[in-house]
Amino acid sequence: MHLLLAPMEGLLDDVLRAVITPCGGYDYAVTEFARVSGTLLPERFFRRIAPELSSGSRTAGGTPVRVQLLGSDPACMADNAAQLAGLAPSGIDLNFGCPAPTVNRHRGGAVLLDEPELMHAITRAVRRVMPAEIPLTAKMRLGVRDAGRAVECARALADGGAAALVVHARTKDDGYRPPAHWPWVGRIAEAVRLPVVANGEVWNGEDWRRCRAESGVADIMLGRGAVADPFLARRLRGGQLEAPEPAARESEWLELRAMLGDFRERVLRKVVPRHAPGRIKQWLNLLRRNFPQAERLYQQIRGLSAMPEIDRVFAAAGIRVVPTSAGLAPVPGRAA
Ligand SMILES: Cc1cc2nc3c(=O)[nH]c(=O)nc-3n(C[C@H](O)[C@H](O)[C@H](O)COP(=O)(O)O)c2cc1C
Repeated sequence: MHLLLAPMEGLLDDVLRAVITPCGGYDYAVTEFARVSGTLLPERFFRRIAPELSSGSRTAGGTPVRVQLLGSDPACMADNAAQLAGLAPSGIDLNFGCPAPTVNRHRGGAVLLDEPELMHAITRAVRRVMPAEIPLTAKMRLGVRDAGRAVECARALADGGAAALVVHARTKDDGYRPPAHWPWVGRIAEAVRLPVVANGEVWNGEDWRRCRAESGVADIMLGRGAVADPFLARRLRGGQLEAPEPAARESEWLELRAMLGDFRERVLRKVVPRHAPGRIKQWLNLLRRNFPQAERLYQQIRGLSAMPEIDRVFAAAGIRVVPTSAGLAPVPGRAA
């Protein structure tokens, strides 16, 4: 069985990947999408969303990282894929699932699910320019409004040369509203001859079990559930499906405290200080679904907007706070 860490633009970037993946459990992670629209993106663009390209396309925890492309012009997608392939990513993934209006207006992401011929052309054009040893995968939703063409879309990607498909079991119009329609993943898997990975609304071991049972698919990609519970994949690997007992949660929290300290430091290295509190609150907001200690921290910092204030709360909670007054040097090549 495979467990994959989902791409999540604006949430799961190189910083959070570096902090979460050492917990173990993931076969590979996918970056947030690189949007291709008419130009050849420079190398530094790919290195910015995937700094892991400089370390063998692996996170600090050793998890391989694949880079995702989003766009609608087959020739331009191919040019960019060739550029990206030159940086030796551990894989390239194509996005046919993004429901964001800004992306969809430019004929990118989930709206392409109404144009399976174009999905096929993009996949084929991209596969052609990539060295054989780099895998090409694709991620799709069930459709734009309904799942009527889901199988046709999956076949288009398979025939175009995708080596595996991740199916986020919702339509574009469903947005992120539960439920995810896991049985549809099974219908797609039966219709294509390539590995299919189920995705959507897997937050815990019980969801994982039901998703596998309802889809008949063994491999799962975790998105928000992985951020809300960084130990979920590790527990699933260990065969533990039930929620941890409070004592086990307490020891996970000790581990998580160290991770929060690491996260804070990495965020401060990457973003301008005024953006750091937002990133920290964003992660705690998801963590509080599972950790009462995170809920307490979140309530303490939610009204704060300056890092020194947040640092005081963190330090009082036993989180290691590396002094920043001297100013941490930004990591070269990363956006401020
Ligand atoms: C904030 C956010 C950003 C996302 N960005 C991407 C993206 O860049 N590429 C992509 O293929 N999917 C993206 N997704 C979709 C997720 O990869 C995943 O398919 C979706 O969240 C359902 O899985 P989950 O219920 O386990 O979170 C994003 C989802 C969220 C919540």
